Amino acid sequence: MTTNGQKYNLLVVDDESYICSIVEEALATSDEYDVTVYSKPEKALEHLANNQVDLVLTDLVMGEYSGVDMMAKALEYHSDCIVILMTAYPTVNNAISVLKKGAYDYLVKPFKLETLKNTVTRGLERQKLNRENLRLKEQLALYGLSEAMGTSKTLEEMLNQAADTARSVVSVNAISILVRENFNQIPIPYLIQGNPDDSGCEDFLRGNHELCRNAINNCESQTLTDIVSGEKSCIRSLASYPLMSRGEAIGLLNVIQEDPFMAVMPGQLHLLTIVASKIASAIETNRLHEHLQSSYIKAIRALANAIEARDLYTRGHTERVTILADLLASRLNWSEEKRAELKMGCTLHDIGKIGIPDAILNKPGKLTDDERKIIRDHPMVGAKILEGIDYLSPAMPYILYHHEFYDGTGYPDGLAGEEIPLEGRLLAVVDTFDAIVSERPYRKGKPAITAIAELEKYKGRQFDPIIVDVMVAAWKEGLINQLGIYEEERKQPVEA
Ligand SMILES: [Fe+2]
Repeated sequence: MTTNGQKYNLLVVDDESYICSIVEEALATSDEYDVTVYSKPEKALEHLANNQVDLVLTDLVMGEYSGVDMMAKALEYHSDCIVILMTAYPTVNNAISVLKKGAYDYLVKPFKLETLKNTVTRGLERQKLNRENLRLKEQLALYGLSEAMGTSKTLEEMLNQAADTARSVVSVNAISILVRENFNQIPIPYLIQGNPDDSGCEDFLRGNHELCRNAINNCESQTLTDIVSGEKSCIRSLASYPLMSRGEAIGLLNVIQEDPFMAVMPGQLHLLTIVASKIASAIETNRLHEHLQSSYIKAIRALANAIEARDLYTRGHTERVTILADLLASRLNWSEEKRAELKMGCTLHDIGKIGIPDAILNKPGKLTDDERKIIRDHPMVGAKILEGIDYLSPAMPYILYHHEFYDGTGYPDGLAGEEIPLEGRLLAVVDTFDAIVSERPYRKGKPAITAIAELEKYKGRQFDPIIVDVMVAAWKEGLINQLGIYEEERKQPVEA
């Protein structure tokens, strides 16, 4: 039996009908074969075009028809078909030629029926092995998908990998993955591959089809098979799988397969169920990750707000510094990932101030040396607080190094030049700018031009000259003005 548990479909073609009868009789002794015989080659060609065929036994010369052409057609319609040529006029050249063109074997007439049966059995065993290898490859594709799910960074990468796997498992003509953002919502397409001509299929891929609604509502896969007639008639299978997560359909995997002879096999449908469950868990994991990330960010914000609530001098400072720093990062072409880390770092940069007593933090007058020392400890205290929290580690260079000076006279480590991590050098510039421009209880904020002049004055001493240049250019172009974080009278650039 075939790998699908069905009988093998054998086709015998010979213009001598008595040969057809003998071969048919010999092969009919096995209940594993369905044998069809034709003494007219044109009928055999028609049969090949319209039916599943696993093995072809054909005469090599049949009047104007050649067994080689028959073989070519058989392999065109059924790529893994076994073809055995028969001839009464053997030559070595003939034999080599047909084997090279894809024939499995070559029988010389008259042949013993036992030889015929053995050749057919061996051919079908080879085919079975090939088909099992193919199945193994499909299983490997699933294994590869599991691996990729573990290493893919983005949901998009994971969905593309899943679509590729589905395509290799079932050779689908088109595929779509749809996801519901919220329960009860209609799933929206996240990925569509393949472009069927039929508008009904387009609707199916976009989830606008009864099959999709049934799959979502009943939480069960749905399949539909129909015959497409036309120039090239084929069997079209539509399959819609709900993506199940914790008992809920969070989306759909839709596939379309068009095959001249076969609907999607039950085994393939089972493999697609596995692909669908992998997709569902990838989406769920992604959602959990996003939820975790947003919870973290909320926790960080709450922490930063707690610090600012105590520090009367710096209300709103953290947010403004974050916005300004991101402007400079965009001018420096930092990656999206680096800019996300920058937001975390700027938000947390003064977290160490949580350890400074209120009396020192909010002291209006001059600080004593001891008090200044306590203030200067805040980068180290901040680093200590976040130590061991891997997720927040990208904030470390901002926290630790935003008070280092370019000439090496800053704190806590007295690093100089490019020894100071770039994150610290960038934050130092915007931190100082905001400190000068912002209102304080005991003084009004100074104009932006004063802050810019200060940055220029200490460029190369306190600040990285390149970052100062980027900051000054942004200010001259009116970009800081456009951020809308400072009052009108102080943010306008002054014409040179
Ligand atoms: Fe600071």
